[in-house]
Amino acid sequence: MKTTKSVNVKEMNFDKLFKQISPEEICNSYNVFKLVGIDFYAVTAGKPDHYNSMVGSGGGLGILMRKPIVWGGFRTDRYTLELIQKEQTYTLTFFPEEYKKQLLFLGSKSGRDSEKMKEVELTPVQTPSGDMSYKEARLIIECGLMQITTPNPTDFYSQHAKDFINEAYNDENDYRKYVFGEITHVWVKK
Ligand SMILES: Cc1cc2nc3c(=O)[nH]c(=O)nc-3n(C[C@H](O)[C@H](O)[C@H](O)COP(=O)(O)O)c2cc1C
Repeated sequence: MKTTKSVNVKEMNFDKLFKQISPEEICNSYNVFKLVGIDFYAVTAGKPDHYNSMVGSGGGLGILMRKPIVWGGFRTDRYTLELIQKEQTYTLTFFPEEYKKQLLFLGSKSGRDSEKMKEVELTPVQTPSGDMSYKEARLIIECGLMQITTPNPTDFYSQHAKDFINEAYNDENDYRKYVFGEITHVWVKK
């Protein structure tokens, strides 16, 4: 098993770095389309002794089964997805623009067979609930896994969606899952 960077995350006072806001307040400060589709985000699952992050660039925020949720599209071979399924909790971390390079590094190779979590120039931090994120974050959305669903290619109607999904389904490693997480906490940098 690959190890992660040895930083004593417990010594960091999370409450000094971040303050909690409600899910509804996210949209007061952020344009979700920009946040997700242009800025991108890190998805992180695991605990201090072993966690993993990848970059996400799709999905969104909304309401499902009367709960505030986030959703995203994941290829089945993502190691982060495997850890989400194991832990059933995860975080989405949004960074200031100055950390874009570090964020993109998390999307450059898989933590399954690399040391990227040791190499990444970001500082891990543990939330009070025990999930992992990064000190450099401007926004952290913490989630409990609600649903993972595999879309059926026959469920798509627009030409764009059909083309997209057919391309994704050409190779079995390219299958995408839609992952829905109930938002449990939202934190912003103080
Ligand atoms: C800008 C950018 C956006 C990405 N968006 C997604 C995404 O939405 N879904 C996905 O499955 N992979 C996405 N990826 C690819 C993963 O982040 C990448 O394959 C990563 O290395 C997977 O890491 P893991 O196997 O350690 O989880 C994106 C990569 C980049 C650079």
